[in-house]
Amino acid sequence: MEEMAVEILKKFNQEHIIDWMNKLNNEEKNKLVEQVLNLNISQVVDLYNNLSKKFEIGDKKIEKISVTDIDKLSKDDFENHKNKGIEIIKNGKYAVVTMAGGQGTRLGHKGPKGTFKVDLKDGDKYLFQIIVESLQKANERYGVIIPWYLMTSEENNDQTLEFLEEHNYFGYPKEKVKLFKQGKAPLISTEGKLLIGKDKLIKEASDGNGSIYKSLKVDGMLDDMKNNNIEWIFVGGVDNILLKIVDPLLVGITVNQNNKIASKSVVKTNPRERAGVFCKIDGKPGIIEYSELPEEMVEEVDENGELVFGDVNILSHLYNIDALGKMADKVMPYHIAVKKSEYLDENGNLVVPEDKNVYKFESFIFDAFSNFDDISILRVKREEEFAPIKNAEGNDSPETAIKLYNARI
Ligand code: UTP
Repeated sequence: MEEMAVEILKKFNQEHIIDWMNKLNNEEKNKLVEQVLNLNISQVVDLYNNLSKKFEIGDKKIEKISVTDIDKLSKDDFENHKNKGIEIIKNGKYAVVTMAGGQGTRLGHKGPKGTFKVDLKDGDKYLFQIIVESLQKANERYGVIIPWYLMTSEENNDQTLEFLEEHNYFGYPKEKVKLFKQGKAPLISTEGKLLIGKDKLIKEASDGNGSIYKSLKVDGMLDDMKNNNIEWIFVGGVDNILLKIVDPLLVGITVNQNNKIASKSVVKTNPRERAGVFCKIDGKPGIIEYSELPEEMVEEVDENGELVFGDVNILSHLYNIDALGKMADKVMPYHIAVKKSEYLDENGNLVVPEDKNVYKFESFIFDAFSNFDDISILRVKREEEFAPIKNAEGNDSPETAIKLYNARI
């Protein structure tokens, strides 16, 4: 085993890890060897060697995508879609997944983001509690108990579980709540070297919310959903306190439009809003980040004066179970972020870098949309469904989100 690990490390020019390995006691060494054998080092080194070819829109064709505006639905259509959705939810075919594996670095809250508390008009509430209360309301309305799946990460799983236990799952039936861990990938220094963390192992970090598809399958959640006859799965973020996690309209529209995936959007507040927008990329549904949208498209308007690329992604997605199954087996592209990360030097001393020193590889949930020919996009009202908490202050902060929330209830 040890020889195999040494061979791999040599092959990928990571000899410093072999030197480190030789300084460890037997137990520590065995753990490191096991890690090396299980890590996809070749993929990370390959990504590093191809940094210049990183995921980019490049020559891809960006086009407008059609959306269904909630305000433009006729009363009949609205009722039809909604009733279809209600039927599915009432038949127990609907589940909710919350993505809570992120690190919430911008907010700077100690602990998982779901454990952040906001002072709302109807009381102090934790973000997880807000989600549970939405589920409870829907359960009452539709006479079901909606299964709740919670994606955590290596970094925050234990704390999340502890928190939920401590708060008795805010009254949600515990057997209907399932936690699963998202994937991770090794960090690599800007010099192309793997790093050692405080646990004396190679440093890894969560590899973005796009790992949800694979993790749902690998961690047995997909099978669990199938065993429970779930057909439609809502996937949302943890930090939008106005997120509608049970919306029969979205379900009904998706079914009636014959699609397997769906998302909600809100209209950009102004063309320069720093948000990802829905579009078609080489003919397939996708989302383009604000930094990647070609300049000439930023302010482009259609014949009605509406922004052509003005439908903002609010991380409110719906999938048919077959779609989730299909995506679990697809390789997701990695986006690259440069971050600061402390590590142990060759003598075991902690190094706290002043500047960004590592590349982090992250996949994005929406990149998987390109596996489908079409998507239902329901454009909803921002003030009704979008109050994200991303930053400690300013835009998308607790202060702005609380104001929006209080104005709604
Ligand atoms: P963001 O991209 O806003 O990241 O995640 P974040 O971790 O909350 O905050 P920053 O960027 O570090 O400040 C959007 C949603 O995706 C989840 C988050 O928990 C949030 O619900 N997410 C993000 C994951 O589940 N895993 C990840 O690896 C990243």
